[in-house]
Amino acid sequence: MKALILSGGQGTRLKPLTNTIAKQLLPIANNPIIFYVLNQIKEAGITDIGIIISPETGNLIREAVGDGTRWGARITYILQTEPAGLAHAVKTANDFLGSSPFLMFLGDNLIQGGVRDFVSEFTRDTPDALILLKEVADPCLFGVANVDKNGEVIHLVEKPKQPQTNLALVGIYLFSPVIHQAIAQIKPSWRGELEITDAIQKLLDMGKRVRSHVLKGWWLDTGKKDDLLEANRVVLDEYLKRNVKGEIDPTSQIMGRVEVEEGAQVVNSTVRGPVSIAEGCKIRNSFIGPFTSIGESTIVENSCVEHSVILENCHIYGIARLEDSLLGKRVKLKQGAEPHKAMRLMVGDDAEVEL
Ligand code: TTP
Repeated sequence: MKALILSGGQGTRLKPLTNTIAKQLLPIANNPIIFYVLNQIKEAGITDIGIIISPETGNLIREAVGDGTRWGARITYILQTEPAGLAHAVKTANDFLGSSPFLMFLGDNLIQGGVRDFVSEFTRDTPDALILLKEVADPCLFGVANVDKNGEVIHLVEKPKQPQTNLALVGIYLFSPVIHQAIAQIKPSWRGELEITDAIQKLLDMGKRVRSHVLKGWWLDTGKKDDLLEANRVVLDEYLKRNVKGEIDPTSQIMGRVEVEEGAQVVNSTVRGPVSIAEGCKIRNSFIGPFTSIGESTIVENSCVEHSVILENCHIYGIARLEDSLLGKRVKLKQGAEPHKAMRLMVGDDAEVEL
């Protein structure tokens, strides 16, 4: 069994951040999303992993993931020259995949509990495909499945105008090599992409067996700002342990599950977890509230930050209340003459904001 992680794409919905960072490297609880994906693949016992990369951000992914030693895995990077769809990515990986069954994992998706049980079931029952589904409030935005009471898939539609169920396709799939025959027969959709949903429907048209599982736990798809904040909230809530290695002065209070990495300083401040503060950060005369992650060497002074993801080397000064915000690297944010109450921001790398 091999694994294929899709880390190409354009990340349009996270621009301007994705002008300079690969979407899959954006941090959740101060770790790149793709690291969680690799951890879940490792837990499932798969060590032969292909990663689809784009010309724009491929080198950043290579630098961050390296040769896979950290996960005991062998990594093969596969360049997809244009973001022509998920099924196109599989086609691009043809040489790597050969005739092996494989786990396909979107590099910006995560599910509670990992994929080990699904991989075992697929290996045991050998259907032609196994897909994961999740009940969603707005199925029109997703690939949607019709299934029978035994979990056999009957029909799939990509972004239906009138969805027949609320079961959306989660970005994690298991395929036998017959998927390549199905992909060879599909045409680009109205948006010009080779859709994996169409390829799976083609499997059904070919009389192949597609099984499904409805996920009970959370599914995180970090394609947009609020999804990323939600992923940060869920991961901090579920995994973060109290671990204070940095310096905390006697006038500061660290409450609950807070991680303060080596070389970070908290001075005259209150941090109420779950919060992750990376190496070299300086928090002075400030309040850091729940569900916040602060990247390496960021400085927060005379400010109040809550439910936000701040990347490295930012400087936040005199901000009365920053919440629900995602800040890229090296952002400078400082209070202007007119004080305001709450701010909701999405700011790209190198921006300077004076409020
Ligand atoms: P999407 O979120 O569907 O697409 P995108 O990353 O281009 O983002 P946006 O819609 O905001 O422009 O992609 C899901 C995952 O699959 C993501 O990790 C990128 C990856 N991907 C590829 O590797 N190749 C592709 O051709 C596409 C479309 C996506």
